[in-house]
This record gives sequence, structure tokens and C-alpha cells, in this order.
Amino acid sequence: MVRERADGREFPFEWADFERLRQLSYSHSGIVVPDSKFQMFYTRLVKRLRALGLSSFGEYVEYLETHREAEFSHFINALTTNLTSFFREPHHFDFLRDTVIPQALENRVPRLRVWSAGCSTGEEPWSIAMTLAEHALPKGLRFEVLATDIDSNVLAQARAGIYPLNRLEGLDLETRRRWFQKGRGANADKARIKPELRQFVGFRQLNLIQPFRHTEPLDVIFCRNVVIYFDRPTKETLISRYADSLKPDGYLIMGHSESLHGISTRFRLIGRTVYQKQGG
Ligand SMILES: C[S@@+](CC[C@H](N)C(=O)[O-])C[C@H]1O[C@@H](n2cnc3c(N)ncnc32)[C@H](O)[C@@H]1O
Repeated sequence: MVRERADGREFPFEWADFERLRQLSYSHSGIVVPDSKFQMFYTRLVKRLRALGLSSFGEYVEYLETHREAEFSHFINALTTNLTSFFREPHHFDFLRDTVIPQALENRVPRLRVWSAGCSTGEEPWSIAMTLAEHALPKGLRFEVLATDIDSNVLAQARAGIYPLNRLEGLDLETRRRWFQKGRGANADKARIKPELRQFVGFRQLNLIQPFRHTEPLDVIFCRNVVIYFDRPTKETLISRYADSLKPDGYLIMGHSESLHGISTRFRLIGRTVYQKQGG
């Protein structure tokens, strides 16, 4: 039987526990946790205490510090916000179709390379791949999409490419028919990405606050609704690494409430949260 305490909590959770845990979140993932997330921390992490058979948050902190390899991914998975959708902020996909593809064709780029950094459950990289498969491939322009996230759970869902049908509701019929296979029997309420699209997208676990290297420079980086959780020094370092990873005129696409104002002078704003690298 689970016993509740006077404050309604199954385990004591003090401000000092919260401080220690959010410090670990920051040092490991760059995610800054505001005071307002106190209850959310408790609710999400209490499941880990139960799963591990621990009896206090103090024990959990100790466990986390002594089992970094094994426990940190659970810890981060419990804390990240993974909200996303297909063709979220559709103007960014119009930008790919109307600007990136024509420019690449004009410059005779052999293959477009696009990175979805912080891809969550995959709707973003699959939407990028659909756009490029529809508008670049028929013109002879090949492409590849790299999709990464720190959270191994969402990455597994992204790679599987299987979604409840209600996640497809905003998509037009043609897009659904072309790129999704409806499940049968027990899976009748799901759809999966068709095999012909899978070859274009590669998935990898990657922590954006650690240094990364790409084998070849990129044409476009989508990093939407990710840096919103980072503080200024973390953002500055990451954006500078993005600039290093892009081709001289490459593009960085941010989320609707994110801005590089005061963060980097290596990009200039050229559209709605669309930035272009400047100065090579
Ligand atoms: C709100 S989702 C954004 C998904 C998608 N880009 C979009 O805009 O729809 C934020 C994602 O960033 C990921 N994330 C947070 N911190 C990260 C880090 N340090 N490295 C890599 N990914 C991180 C989270 O796991 C989460 O899946």
C-alpha cells in the first residue's frame, strides 16, 4: 500500500532536493528548470523512485550520481517537454520549398543536408523529408535528413515512425495517402511512415550541450523550440557551433518564440525566425 504524507506526497520532497536535481539537469543537458517546475519535478521523478525501490529523493540524487550512465537518460526523459506536430509552423516548410530548393538547384548542390536538432517524436524530420521528397527529388536534387534528440524514448518513437491517427488530423488527405500506411487489426488506430521515406532520415541520440561534429557541412538546421530551455551562455555556445556546422550561406530555423537577438552576430534574420549565416 502506498502511504501518503500530510502534504499529500508519497515521499518527502524538499527545496534542497529540487535544487540539487535541477542543478544536475542544467549540468547534464543545459535545461534550466524554473522554480515553478517544483511540483512537475516531483510528479515525474517519483515514478523513478518507485521503479528503483528508493525511499527518498536524497537516495535518488545519490543513485543518479553513482549510476550516471544508466540513470541519466531516465532522468532527462522524465524532465523534457516533447510537444511537437507534423508541419508545425508551416511557413518553415514553405521556406524549404520556395527558397532552399530553388537556390540549391541554381547552385547545382549535389545533395541537400538538413538537420533536425531536438527532433522529439519525429514529426519535424518526417515533415522535412516529405517536403524534400515532394519538391526536390522530382527535380533531381537528392537530400538527407539527420534527426537527433537527447531523449532516447522520443528518439525510439521517431525512428519507429508510428503515430496514432489523431496526430495526422491536421494533414491533408493527399499527404496522408502518400506518406502513411494505415495499420490493420489491433493497429487500426495507427499509421506508419511508408518505407520509401525512411531511407532519407537517419536518427541519432545527441546532447546539444556537448561538442558535435558533422562529416560534411549542412545546408539547413532546424532547431525549433529547444533553446527556449537554455540559458544565455549555453545558447551562445550552441549557436556558434551551429554556425561552424553550416555551409557559408546556410540557414538556421528557430521556433516561433525564439530569437538570436543579442546571442549571435554570425546570423542575420531573413524571414519569420529564419536566419542565414553571414560572413562565411
Ligand atoms: C518541445 S520539443 C521540440 C520538437 C520539435 N523541434 C518542434 O519544434 O516541434 C524539444 C526537444 O528538445 C530536446 N532537448 C532538450 N534538451 C536537449 C539537449 N540538451 N540536447 C538535445 N535535445 C534536447 C527534448 O528532448 C525535446 O524532444
